[in-house]
Amino acid sequence: MTAATTDIAAFFQQSNQVKCETIDLLGVEVTVVREDLNHPVVQGNKLRKLKYNLIGAWEHKAKTILTFGGAYSNHLVATAFAAQQLGFDSIGVVRGDELENNQAIWSETLYQCQQYGMQLVFVSRTEYRLKQQGPTVKTLLEQTSDLFVVPEGGSNAAAVKGMAELLADLPEVISDISHLICPVGTGGTLAGLIKGVHDQSWHCKVYGVAVLKGLQSVKSDINQWLGEQESTVNWQILPDFHCGGYAKSTPELESFAIAFKQKHGFSLDKIYNSKSFYALAQLIKNGVITDKDKPVIIHTGGLQGGVF
Ligand SMILES: Cc1ncc(COP(=O)(O)O)c(C=O)c1O
Repeated sequence: MTAATTDIAAFFQQSNQVKCETIDLLGVEVTVVREDLNHPVVQGNKLRKLKYNLIGAWEHKAKTILTFGGAYSNHLVATAFAAQQLGFDSIGVVRGDELENNQAIWSETLYQCQQYGMQLVFVSRTEYRLKQQGPTVKTLLEQTSDLFVVPEGGSNAAAVKGMAELLADLPEVISDISHLICPVGTGGTLAGLIKGVHDQSWHCKVYGVAVLKGLQSVKSDINQWLGEQESTVNWQILPDFHCGGYAKSTPELESFAIAFKQKHGFSLDKIYNSKSFYALAQLIKNGVITDKDKPVIIHTGGLQGGVF
């Protein structure tokens, strides 16, 4: 029995209480939006990206949520937990068939998904790329009635709508923002911020820090989700801070994240926020952002994925 939409709305209300703090980063006052504090499991951008996806699932009278992710996916564990809380069953299609029947090599993330009741289905990397067109998922779609598919990373128009609400929820004291910064994986978070800036009629620059190489499809997805709204906003993806690619790092990135925690007292996850905060520090070092600016950076959570 799934929860009513009001219960779903109540679950996601937790995202309305936005916490912000100001830090001094290399002489520039930076506002950090601490979305990492919004929920212990459905953390950061996940709480916002899942909101309208799960409301959509309820409206479609779905019983089961099916979604996709890698062995360390923040999205997978957030979906497993939210689905369980709201009375849905969940299926996670996981990249890597070597994980099947070999729990010894499972990540903590996969154990958590299982603990939250998610059925895990492992597929080869080749099949994973096919998503809903892959034979395993096609069969599941045929066999399981009332199934609602949420894409990889939860990114779609529903996620963009949820993410855009963050800007309306910011405390009023945060105004005249010059730059808004977030990490970019599948692009839904950045697209949501662009939509939010458009909806609020702000004039700031929006920077998405790519955490992986090769972003052509991300740009076209963002254009598709946003339509004409994207052309009214000054946004760009910064491609030079992936530090070798997805989940890769450099000694400089690691030292930055460790020193950041020591100085400011909160952690940055390895995969996303270490890179976006590091990029912001580089923009300050290079004089692109100065002490005349009012940059705001979104801490998107992801701490279950680990810190340096
Ligand atoms: C913690 C965290 N931050 C940022 C991102 C990037 O978000 P998006 O995939 O919407 O670009 C992700 C991935 O989904 C994430 O888990």
